[in-house]
Amino acid sequence: MLYGKKRLQLNESERIAMRRAGKFNGQLMDFARTQVRAGVRTSDIDRLIVQFTRDHGHLPACLGYQGFPKGCCISVNDIVCHGIPGAYVLQEGDIVNIDVTTVVDRWLGDQSETFFVGQVSPVARQLTQCAFDALYLAIDALAPDCRVSEIGKAVVARAQRDRFSVVREYVGHGIGRRFHQEPSIPHYPSRQASIDRLLPGMCFTIEPMINEGTRDTVLDRCDGWTVRTRDGKLTAQFEHTILMKEEGPEILTLTEHGPQKGHQFT
Ligand code: MF3
Ligand code: CO
Ligand code: CO
Repeated sequence: MLYGKKRLQLNESERIAMRRAGKFNGQLMDFARTQVRAGVRTSDIDRLIVQFTRDHGHLPACLGYQGFPKGCCISVNDIVCHGIPGAYVLQEGDIVNIDVTTVVDRWLGDQSETFFVGQVSPVARQLTQCAFDALYLAIDALAPDCRVSEIGKAVVARAQRDRFSVVREYVGHGIGRRFHQEPSIPHYPSRQASIDRLLPGMCFTIEPMINEGTRDTVLDRCDGWTVRTRDGKLTAQFEHTILMKEEGPEILTLTEHGPQKGHQFT
């Protein structure tokens, strides 16, 4: 399919390049996972993530992206997404999402994971479980040529089961040699998503943000990036980069060390 004039269906060598980018990004997440604990500054985690990326000869895609000042996004508790790593020190009971994106030989991998800092509250665990299940239920709903809206249907149904809400202002996206491209991947059903289809060779992210309370968000007016829940309640997110193939979806950013389908956080 052509979206605008862009060719979104990758050939075999382009798929191999995306697989490499996803694999490295997954290894970077494996590294990030080992850095999360109480007492650590989020800017220190960011510095180590940038270092690990450069040590392997790759580039952090977030750094300088539309003026973003750091190498990854770190979003704690009520921060929905695009948290800027800084002076904040992780505390026991926090839930923290780390979102890493890497450029590997001009192709991109993008993923995020929500971590627990020590013991967290029952609702924090339930919310994190819901966001994780929503991602995998959406992946399970994928088939070659399916409508993008299958993703939103699966995510909303899972969130409703726990009476949580689904963020609308921020969505998944096509990905490849560009960070964000068509198609848009909303995590709720929309008119455009029931027109757009996921064809073999297309790469995209699924990255549901699930809120404990209202789905509404507010953008920090001072830094222009940090997105918070309007009611200050918790939010959780997981993200993977997916390649649709003739046989079905392949998760490009999954490694054997990360939480697998069916993982229980509770
Ligand atoms: N990684 C985010 C996503 O999943 C985008 C971050 S853009 C940044 O699309 F500039 F905030 F880093
Ligand atoms: Co993304
Ligand atoms: Co991301």
